[in-house]
Amino acid sequence: MTGEPVTDSDIRRDRARFIHGLPKAELHLHIEGTLEPEMMFALATRNGISLPYADVEAVRRAYVFDDLQSFLDVYYAGCAVLVTERDFYELTAAYLRRAAAQGVSHAEIFFDPQTHTDRGIPFDTVVTGICRALEDGQRRWSITWRLILCFLRHLSADAAMTTLEQALPFRNLIAAVGLDSSELGHPPSAFEAVFRRAREEGLLAVAHAGEEGPPEYIWEALEQLHVRRIDHGVRCWEDRLLVDRLLADRVPLTVCPLSNVKLGVFPDLAHHNLATLLRHGLRVTVNSDDPAYFGGYVADNMVAVAEALALDRGEIVQLARNSFLASFLDEAVKRERLSEVDHAATQGGWTAPQIPPARSSAG
Ligand code: HPA
Ligand code: ZN
Repeated sequence: MTGEPVTDSDIRRDRARFIHGLPKAELHLHIEGTLEPEMMFALATRNGISLPYADVEAVRRAYVFDDLQSFLDVYYAGCAVLVTERDFYELTAAYLRRAAAQGVSHAEIFFDPQTHTDRGIPFDTVVTGICRALEDGQRRWSITWRLILCFLRHLSADAAMTTLEQALPFRNLIAAVGLDSSELGHPPSAFEAVFRRAREEGLLAVAHAGEEGPPEYIWEALEQLHVRRIDHGVRCWEDRLLVDRLLADRVPLTVCPLSNVKLGVFPDLAHHNLATLLRHGLRVTVNSDDPAYFGGYVADNMVAVAEALALDRGEIVQLARNSFLASFLDEAVKRERLSEVDHAATQGGWTAPQIPPARSSAG
């Protein structure tokens, strides 16, 4: 019959179209990690900053990482080109344009103020540039948003507290605090006081935990930082009691499949535990983390993981639903967004429920 997928490439194309067409919330996205090499060069020229790369291709070639730290070294170096409010505006606007094309209708965005204030960039410059773009993006692309301030865990708890104090005049623009950067050796428990203070100010909390770090860090994030979501969290699977706790409290995991492979958390997508976690009933979401560095935005991540792990249509729709369920949207808006997912799911052209896994050993 005409129009029905007949070859593997038809199926792949229809599945990618279906995934792009599903409304999605992106919940784990470092805005500094959306700095594409072309923009890095343009901003370096505009701001008179020299880069240790000859051209855009040399930058892309340098994006081969052994682990989280080897990535962070490159990521923080790239941030040096971000100087003016206009730079932060353009960075965020460029992300939103791409996100709109990937079916994102709500974005909860991390920013790392210490990466900029430690270079002498005022907090105000960073937050104003990002938020002006988010407001324009909401008007232009109908993408609703929340902003999450991340503390750098390789710096001290005192430095985090100073950053929180700098943020308080902008309290109305910030929904939550988070914790990122080098995980090993920097447990969440070190940041208990600053997270308590943030909660007293009415801010919600999330934290990166269980990306490279052990399940104990996830326990600490839950028990001591009182987080609403765990960013990454894939190492939870090593601790059955922890998995039970995450299930019982429906704690969302903001999983970033392409990031995990690029940073060596899993050897390849076929060995990623996302499908295992999802099929166990955990509230798994798919996100892009630092898409300019890891090779794909949110729909690209979903397409890649759906193919590698043979996710069926219902599982893909569940991922889109989970993204809104796990979001910080008001309950009424959440319900609207969920019904938009359900509506889009009935429209999609992709009807093949069984997709063979990409790995050759499957069967
Ligand atoms: N993990 C920790 N910190 C980060 C990351 C990440 O994947 N991306 C940017 N900062
Ligand atoms: Zn991250």
